[in-house]
Amino acid sequence: MNDLSNGLTRWTQRLRCGEQPSEVELREHLLAVHRHHTGFTESCAERCRDASGRNSYEWLAETVDPSRHQKVLDMACGSGVLTALCHQRFGGQIELIGVDMSPDELCLARQRVSDEAVLLHCALAQEMGFIADASIDVVLCHWALTLMNPVEPVLNEVRRVLRPDGVFAAIVDGEMAAAPGYRELHELIYDWVQREYPGYGEIDMGDPRVRTTAALAALAAESFDNAQVHIEPAVVRLHGAPDALAREAAGFFYASFVLSPSAHAEMLSELAALFAAQGLEGPNHFSMPINRLSVRQRSQ
Ligand SMILES: C[S@@+](CC[C@H](N)C(=O)[O-])C[C@H]1O[C@@H](n2cnc3c(N)ncnc32)[C@H](O)[C@@H]1O
Repeated sequence: MNDLSNGLTRWTQRLRCGEQPSEVELREHLLAVHRHHTGFTESCAERCRDASGRNSYEWLAETVDPSRHQKVLDMACGSGVLTALCHQRFGGQIELIGVDMSPDELCLARQRVSDEAVLLHCALAQEMGFIADASIDVVLCHWALTLMNPVEPVLNEVRRVLRPDGVFAAIVDGEMAAAPGYRELHELIYDWVQREYPGYGEIDMGDPRVRTTAALAALAAESFDNAQVHIEPAVVRLHGAPDALAREAAGFFYASFVLSPSAHAEMLSELAALFAAQGLEGPNHFSMPINRLSVRQRSQ
């Protein structure tokens, strides 16, 4: 029931019946998606770049200053792209830890970062008791905070493990209107998914507050006392042929993985037509709005 081979997990079955899935069902669904599509996030995210040529992993890694930071946690590290980037950039200067709940993703992460000094833990971000209080300088989280429900225990754990002047930084969804064509693309994908799962979108993964800039700023301010909270927007782009863009963009959305094969194929051809229509105004591209959240604790 949880192998996703027919699109079905207990989480999607609940959506089909218009019911709210439980936290356990959300985790089972995430594990099933990551078992079947291991490493899917980086396929698109590594190649989407901002106007200065950086991808979102590179932008997030800029938070680390090796002259001040000794210990960095990549929370929900997935297949380890950001962990590997930090290892490559800061090498022996910093101690790195990766945490993720998916053993399939962690297997790829270990292949990517073979240095055993980089510790990788299979665990929930809500339960990181194996990391000591006030022991981490920077907690990074790339494209995963949006999926976490409940999110308060995650933020409590981040606050607990951070040193008094530590930093928490995360890449999350930006405002749809910030990237041209993004809302249309999002609606096209969700329209297809809602034909098979009417509740999808109304009910989604994670805590909805993480998806909007104002609510996320308020949540972060509530969760960290005496901290400076900043949210910086950016747009990243991927150029390519319409059918390649359709595959990459759809492959970035968890929603597209629950579609039946026939609906998935039809959705891809509609997406390709959407990208092809842009060609009249310039090169075909997928534009994605992102936000970088930074929470800087201030030592009392
Ligand atoms: C979209 S992927 C991003 C992976 C990686 N950070 C990247 O950007 O390449 C989301 C990751 O979050 C992990 N994840 C989701 N909820 C989690 C939780 N509560 N605790 C730990 N990991 C979680 C998933 O297993 C998955 O690897």
